[in-house]
Amino acid sequence: MSSSILLKNGTAVLPGRTVQADILLKDGKIAGIGPVDPAAAAEIVDCSGLHILPGVIDTQVHFREPGPTHKEDLETGSRGAVLGGVTAVFEMPNTSPNTDTPERLADKLDRASGRMWCNHAFFLGATAENAGQLGVWERLPGCAGVKVFMGSSTGSLLVDDDAALQRILAGGIRRVAVHCEDEGRLRERHSLVAGGADVSLHPEWRDAEAALRATTRLLGLARMTGRRVHVLHVTTADEMDILVDYRDLATVEVTPQHLTLAAPEAYETLGTLAQMNPPIRDARHREALWRALDSGLVDVIGSDHAPHTLEEKARPYPESPSGMTGVQTLVPVMLDHVNAGRLTLERFVDLTSAGPARIYEIAGKGRIAVGYDADLTIVDMKARRTITNDWIASRCGWTPFDGVSVQGWPMLTLVGGRIVMREDTLLGAPGGHPVRFHPLPVGMGLSP
Ligand code: DOR
Repeated sequence: MSSSILLKNGTAVLPGRTVQADILLKDGKIAGIGPVDPAAAAEIVDCSGLHILPGVIDTQVHFREPGPTHKEDLETGSRGAVLGGVTAVFEMPNTSPNTDTPERLADKLDRASGRMWCNHAFFLGATAENAGQLGVWERLPGCAGVKVFMGSSTGSLLVDDDAALQRILAGGIRRVAVHCEDEGRLRERHSLVAGGADVSLHPEWRDAEAALRATTRLLGLARMTGRRVHVLHVTTADEMDILVDYRDLATVEVTPQHLTLAAPEAYETLGTLAQMNPPIRDARHREALWRALDSGLVDVIGSDHAPHTLEEKARPYPESPSGMTGVQTLVPVMLDHVNAGRLTLERFVDLTSAGPARIYEIAGKGRIAVGYDADLTIVDMKARRTITNDWIASRCGWTPFDGVSVQGWPMLTLVGGRIVMREDTLLGAPGGHPVRFHPLPVGMGLSP
């Protein structure tokens, strides 16, 4: 059925320029930019005072389905996404069971259909067992690519030896997303917290050296195999220093929480709510992340949305699980940084739309351009709000930013040309689709 919306009087962040422009959406696509005859549209939305951004793509979320759905499921996680201005998510494979076969990927896509509010793709989890098949499986529709855990975190996925990692990297062609913490180093240092400790020791156990060792190993193997890699949630100055020399192969993610929170204060005020992997570190590392973001070394911002219930988080450290919510707060927290002058709105768009599209080769998303998908995040840069747990749609019902006042707020979320969120209210029904990727050259990326 044909549908059309005219977004009037807004300020649009287009590729290369930010201008007042009307935007016509038709049949799920961007159909016109510039002065548009209002008669062309069935519905007109007045965007005076608002900025129209390409839809925010959060390329790292954990939505827990199938498995521990008491924390989250695909419906609740995606509800939080669109309430927070996020139009697409890439979901991680450490569910139960792990997403490590084509059947389990198909199961997630089936579960997502008609239940997810935003567009979506799912990662395949790498293991020593499936290493030989990932090069074929990574081409499946709805697959975001391959994810590797080099250090144990939530769940059982782990590839801790270089031989298996090399096989994974040698066996495909798409960019591989990697959690870099060195398992050997984590085991060596576990005695620091074993049997109980204060959560402020979390960044001592999982220290900067653990992150650096893993990232160094990964980059060496990426160079050896020529495989492109994406280093997830980089947290240290040391990793940023070496990543500079691998820009032909490696892309870089940071999270809003590592850019915003710092030790020791975060652990003093939030306790185990501040516990995540890799950890929140001290202000010296946080400043290095900002320098890297400023210098262009950072490619994307991902939330690492990793919900656990307050009851689970209340267990004594280190039995308390690692992770915090983030998909709903990514946009307001980062817009507040924009208003504070730490990055421009255009750089925000580069990190949350253009960057994800570029590094994962997403088709038809990542910019406001005619013919592109009508996924849009419309924000009020002047709105002042306080983030509260009440606003959080995640089944676990909390955010580390509870009580934090911000300037800059998502006012409307459009997915496939439909308004699904307006002024903190969900509209319509879940209608997200699998994200499409540019096809790989024929014959490329197939395992022997
Ligand atoms: O803190 C984390 N939580 N880091 C991860 O790598 C996994 C995540 C989770 O799934 O809980």
